[in-house]
Amino acid sequence: MCGIVGYIGRRDATPILFKGLRRLEYRGYDSFGVATVGSALEVYKKTGRISDNEAEVACLRGSTGIGHTRWASYGEPTVINAHPQTDCDERIAVVHNGVIENYNELKRQLQERGHIFRSETDTEVIAHLIEEHYEGDLLAAVNATLAYLQGSYAILVVMEDAQRIVAARNASPLVLGVGDSEFFAASDLMPLLDYTERVIYLEDGDVADITPNRLDIYHDGQRVERPIELINWRVEDARKGGFAHYMQKEIFEQPQSFYETIRAGIDEHTRRMIMDANEITLVACGTSYHTTLIFKYLIEPLCNVSVRAEMGSEFKYFTPPLNGLVIAVSQSGETTDTIAALSMAKAHNCPTLAITNVQGSTITRVADRTLLMRAGPEIGVAATKSYTAQLAALMQIINLRCDGAFDDVLSHAHLAIGDVLLYDVRDAATLCSKANHAFFVGRGPFYPVSMEGALKMKEISYVHAEGYAAGELKHGPFALLTPETPVVAICTPGPTYSVMVSNIKEIKARKAPVIAIGVDGDKELAEIVDVFIPIPNTHLLVQVLTTSVVLQLLAYHTACALQRDIDRPRNLAKSVTVE
Ligand code: G6P
Repeated sequence: MCGIVGYIGRRDATPILFKGLRRLEYRGYDSFGVATVGSALEVYKKTGRISDNEAEVACLRGSTGIGHTRWASYGEPTVINAHPQTDCDERIAVVHNGVIENYNELKRQLQERGHIFRSETDTEVIAHLIEEHYEGDLLAAVNATLAYLQGSYAILVVMEDAQRIVAARNASPLVLGVGDSEFFAASDLMPLLDYTERVIYLEDGDVADITPNRLDIYHDGQRVERPIELINWRVEDARKGGFAHYMQKEIFEQPQSFYETIRAGIDEHTRRMIMDANEITLVACGTSYHTTLIFKYLIEPLCNVSVRAEMGSEFKYFTPPLNGLVIAVSQSGETTDTIAALSMAKAHNCPTLAITNVQGSTITRVADRTLLMRAGPEIGVAATKSYTAQLAALMQIINLRCDGAFDDVLSHAHLAIGDVLLYDVRDAATLCSKANHAFFVGRGPFYPVSMEGALKMKEISYVHAEGYAAGELKHGPFALLTPETPVVAICTPGPTYSVMVSNIKEIKARKAPVIAIGVDGDKELAEIVDVFIPIPNTHLLVQVLTTSVVLQLLAYHTACALQRDIDRPRNLAKSVTVE
């Protein structure tokens, strides 16, 4: 949540900072700001989106600077609350991602000592504390300040008259890019892709002192070495490439990202860990949580293993008895609730596995082992290719536990995904775009697929949508069915087919229009519903993928019809690093 970026070197910092912030906008985009150090400390802040020519408009000078794009937590999205936040004399500027939990107490104490606060943010206390501890050495002042802070932070600090950035991290991500007599700092890899492939992931508790020619990293007051790693993403992957939206591009990248994730396979140690598990608990949030539910539905009838899928946000406070393997699933690898759940599993001495898309992310450093998805950078806030790549990773686990029974199915599944990409779902999208409410229903694994379809619909089109187990609709939601309430039903061959058809007839009897996703050639279904979307008649694992992709397209085209801000839906952020 929130993105921070820093540059120090020989180039003009401002364009680099704004370009970096635009790459980070998916982390939060209600306001933004930049501070540079040239002959003076200059600060520029605004609400709304960063425009193409923001660097020219801002007209800041200096080759050292920091920037921030905000997802408001403490204080509304206003210019005053935008970062950088400064001290009383506006000599010190701070950008911060995270939450300072004891900021109220610190603020009260600082005000008693005469500090004047301008914003409602928790971050401002950091600037005033640094001011208070400054005795000629910015690094020492930041170190002294950190001792007072409770909560999570990745911060970058600059000060007038100093060609220097001090960076610190605790429970919020921060990565440094290493250039030629220049350094970059950012919340994640995206802003670095344009400039360098050499990166250093800071650890929790690290403080970095950065000048154009020197980088010193300290931990517990001792100088430490952190390895330089090479980024495995390309800058082209982070561009829109002719598509109207990142989400559309990412939907279309799914055959490749699914295939690459399958092709990468599972290493031997991780295989052993999976095979040894008598019980599997999965923890995740949002879309990732839906993939864990799908996994549970798919694996339990196939393999003799009991599986629990838990929401990260609940897990920390209502921890179930823990035995066996714990798998944390997270696209970003930075979701606070998922990481907290994973840490609890470690505290219970459970073996832990992270499934994530981001090499070097926090989750990879907490878990015993990592299974890396190969989706490439995902920029649209709505998860699409990371969802199917997670399913690729999880389906490989199923395949492993089933002695390779689905080798063939999985190695060809990307072709079926490709087949549905060009489906014309505009009739269904028109129905949805006219509705205020919609239901998505399915049974078995298609129940969480429906939940994901509904989530996609509400997050990008703002049409209120709920995913339901089809049999549950009559226990309450039927009261909401009207001719203006479309119901999207997934009804594919299998043991629940006939009961799903009955459910659809019940829904139709309440006059709600039905959009059905069924298999090609299913005339019975096509005749009873208002819009029929046929998918290829394939293996169950593949149907889970193809129906999901159809639902992504439905949400996308509905949002297009409603002219929504598809890649940056209101109030959301892609990476949620607060509880
Ligand atoms: C946010 C994003 C969702 C995502 C969820 C979990 O809410 O908007 O798309 O599913 O976080 O993120 P993770 O990175 O842990 O998968």
